[in-house]
Amino acid sequence: MRKALIAANWKMYKTPAEALAFVEAFLPLVASHTRDEIVLFPAHVSLPTVIPAVKNSNVLVGAQNMHWQAEGAYTGEVSAGMLTSLGCTHVLIGHSERRQYFCETDEIVNQKLKTALANDLVPVVCVGEHLDEREANRTEEVLRRQVGRGLINIAPEEAGTVAIAYEPVWAIGTGRTATPELAAEAHLIIRSQVAQMLGREFAEKLRILYGGSVKPENAPALLNQPEIDGALVGGASLDPASFAKIVQYTTF
Ligand code: PGA
Repeated sequence: MRKALIAANWKMYKTPAEALAFVEAFLPLVASHTRDEIVLFPAHVSLPTVIPAVKNSNVLVGAQNMHWQAEGAYTGEVSAGMLTSLGCTHVLIGHSERRQYFCETDEIVNQKLKTALANDLVPVVCVGEHLDEREANRTEEVLRRQVGRGLINIAPEEAGTVAIAYEPVWAIGTGRTATPELAAEAHLIIRSQVAQMLGREFAEKLRILYGGSVKPENAPALLNQPEIDGALVGGASLDPASFAKIVQYTTF
């Protein structure tokens, strides 16, 4: 059994004070929850507030982005070492908004992934097709390319903890969710591509999350699919009660 990862991607929302208020309200709601891994991805500026606030709890904290170099003249960027020095354990890589608005390519994703693994950060690599690609029946080709290039030149013994988030771009922030069947179909494509590259045994252990308009109402149907090993939640993770309901998907 793969332990599900339920993650909150707060994007460019919440000041440090607002992030702290979330944590204070959220922790008691999930205090007894051990079934899944729970991870919050706040904005960088909130990391020094959120990480100490979740200490000794069942909640971990990751960053939404990082640079692949250890240090250098890269104005506005942060390194993996800076993140781990704060106590970050996870990092999102190649979110579709990074690909779309900040020109991140599969090659950049691959460099960031290698850096995350070398720094013992759990990478959550995001992939997903645009609406026109789905309508043109190109979903499989897009997913195989993104996974193929994103994970290239990484050996199974190095890839360790990597997780992949399948986030169809047409479902992000739109209220349009992939049906559990559509999502599971995409997850099978991703798993088969990973099996080709890193072997079947590795692929069987790989966690593949679904993201795109996950809400308390649709979380149970999605997360009870055997192929779906967690969720990456944007909008519905901004409210503590709503995100707690998603975490407890089978128990409410
Ligand atoms: P959403 O965002 O839940 O608001 O659709 C998901 C994501 O972008 O990770």
